[in-house]
Amino acid sequence: MKYIYFLVVLALVASACSQPERTNVTLVPYPAQLKTGKGQFKLNPGTQFVVNDNGKFGNEVDFLQALMRRALGQELSEDKGGSSIEVLQSDTFSVPESYAIQITSGKILLAAGDSTGMFYAMETLRQLLPPSVEAGESAAEFALPALSIYDKPRFEWRGMHLDVSRHFFSIDYLERYIDRLALYKLNKLHLHLTDDQGWRMEIKTYPGLTAQGAWRRFNGQDSVCIAKSKEDSIYALDPAHIEMRDGIPYYGGFYTQDQLRELVRYAQERHVEIIPEIDMPGHMMAAIDVFPSLATTGKAAWGNVFSTPLNPVSEDTYTFVENVLNEVVDIFPSKYIHIGADEVEKISWEESQACRMFMIEHGITDYNHLQGYFVGRVAKFLQAKGKEVVVWDDALEGGIDSSLHVMYWRNWVANVPENVVNNGNDLILAPGDPLYFSRPDTRLFSVYNMKLYGPKFPLDKVDQIKGLQACVWAETVPSEMVADQLIFPRALALAERAWTDSSRLNWDDFKVRVSEQLKRLASMGVNYYYKPTAELLTFMDVDTIQHQIGITFESEISQPTIYYTTDGSLPTTESHLYTGQFFVTGSAAICAAVFKDGQLTEPVLHKQVDYHKALGKPVSYQLPWNTAYPAGDAGALTDGLRGGDSYNDGLWQGFTNDLDVTVDLGKTETLNAFSATFMQLAGPGVFMPDYVEVALSEDGLNFKSVLHIENDISAENKEQVFKNFEGSLQGEKARYVKVFARNGKKAFLFTDELVIN
Ligand code: ACM
Repeated sequence: MKYIYFLVVLALVASACSQPERTNVTLVPYPAQLKTGKGQFKLNPGTQFVVNDNGKFGNEVDFLQALMRRALGQELSEDKGGSSIEVLQSDTFSVPESYAIQITSGKILLAAGDSTGMFYAMETLRQLLPPSVEAGESAAEFALPALSIYDKPRFEWRGMHLDVSRHFFSIDYLERYIDRLALYKLNKLHLHLTDDQGWRMEIKTYPGLTAQGAWRRFNGQDSVCIAKSKEDSIYALDPAHIEMRDGIPYYGGFYTQDQLRELVRYAQERHVEIIPEIDMPGHMMAAIDVFPSLATTGKAAWGNVFSTPLNPVSEDTYTFVENVLNEVVDIFPSKYIHIGADEVEKISWEESQACRMFMIEHGITDYNHLQGYFVGRVAKFLQAKGKEVVVWDDALEGGIDSSLHVMYWRNWVANVPENVVNNGNDLILAPGDPLYFSRPDTRLFSVYNMKLYGPKFPLDKVDQIKGLQACVWAETVPSEMVADQLIFPRALALAERAWTDSSRLNWDDFKVRVSEQLKRLASMGVNYYYKPTAELLTFMDVDTIQHQIGITFESEISQPTIYYTTDGSLPTTESHLYTGQFFVTGSAAICAAVFKDGQLTEPVLHKQVDYHKALGKPVSYQLPWNTAYPAGDAGALTDGLRGGDSYNDGLWQGFTNDLDVTVDLGKTETLNAFSATFMQLAGPGVFMPDYVEVALSEDGLNFKSVLHIENDISAENKEQVFKNFEGSLQGEKARYVKVFARNGKKAFLFTDELVIN
């Protein structure tokens, strides 16, 4: 009987929800299917609690009763009442974590197959109660809207991260963090437990790791926070994490194994998997400081950019690592263990006779592959214990087994996602832009609207994307209040991207729902920060069939009025009114802004877009780009996409030698004009080329120089400068266009597009 009733519910939901429908239900993340009905359910202490859970949902029943205590001031009874809430376990739910809710005037039905699904049904119900409940304000009765929901996740990995090494966060804060993640159906908490600046997990084999390694004298980042706290008190270091020893302040802290076990239990009750990261072989200074013989150099030190890593050819290193990981595995029951493998400076290995001998003996050809050996050996150790291993994407350069899970963060290395899945690995998307929430300039709309993969991603491998994760690196995050500001409400945009099917995403609707959720966050005591910006986010779609580029804008402003021009002039209310995607052909200088009460608001968007003869055409490199700045690899200079203000935005390609490339137009064309923009930013060593020279050829062998443009920007100029090196190609006929830019300073050259018409 129950079963039949339940099938009817599912059928109702399914038939009602074939069309995406927007409602005034402000759930985040948005469910797979939602249909509002007529009437209300009155939740009060007389509501009967009916449990048909086949003995599977004890933890969730407790969770719901705790919610009722907060909302109604008392638990619900199983005695017969006029109306009821039923918790129903049903094996008809084939998708893990899925659930259904039906609310009618007489009954709330919460149904799921597994306990996670049931938990999410209850968290959804929680969001249907008013925000005041979060602050413990109970009431005698709540009216809930009649509705039907069927819901399931888009991705299985819906993660948030916290770096507890650079600054220490209390267990109490971690528990609150877990509560908040669970409310929005985020299910992974990646804890970055160790780094150069602090070791945070008690390891019984090596008590010195925390006795010494968890505490530091104030460092440069602490000084930055202390200075900032003079203007904004939330940047003050928490006195609870400062210990005086002989009159000297030591800053830090660590988690005992008992505390971590309890935290794991707390997280499990909320269906959050804590994934511990012990970052190795780099980012190990806190440990090497305690045990200097773990480095080839016998001391803890900074190299050129990163700290000296573990010695990858010493058995003592593996004994240490395995002893540590044995305790990690003992405490954390998670399916996954993260072993870092990012940002390893290999100079100490290059200078080590032992490393060189080892490489010869083992046929290891370069130092990246020496790291690959280390990662492979540690991964095998963990896999033998039944764990799955996660690494940062840098590890791929050392050659890794396809069984490892790769976390993509270096979004300026644009081909990483493709390389990861083509190597057979699963991929977790955590690109620094926009998913490093530690960056204060990360915009809510950038998170919500982020593209999961680029045009070169193999579509038959999309299933290897396990999910998304945002990271909170804590170098300048000294307090809970600062962490809250960075995480919320961005985590809500992440949650919706990770949970909700892409066909149901709707930024305009999310803007409305998030503004309602802010009230809930406030009631929960979250120090969120959100000021919608009038900045415009631009998306470009290159249409090589119609020879045009489609432009789309998004804004954080609700229902923005946007005017734009395509000739670079400042828009007015007489300009084009933006009503959705528009197309440009040839070159266009897009200028656009949000208008309020007929007035332009800052900032104004300037975007150069070019549909030109070289668009999408292959480029061969006589000299390579700098591997740290490949932009979109060999396609970057002819992809129609122009860089923004930052050479780090994944669109600027960097060169530390001369730029020397040849574009093959595929057939002989009449050529009239050339232009390429270069950037100068003297601080980090980015300069203009001495000159740019363009030579043309019909056969790819005999080239004739047709254009030579000298630089006229002074290297003394400390401002950021862009210069367009442009000129006429004199109507010459050619198939091959050779572009040479002289890097006289042997510094960085950065250019974003070779525009050939
Ligand atoms: C990282 O940000 N180094 C993973």
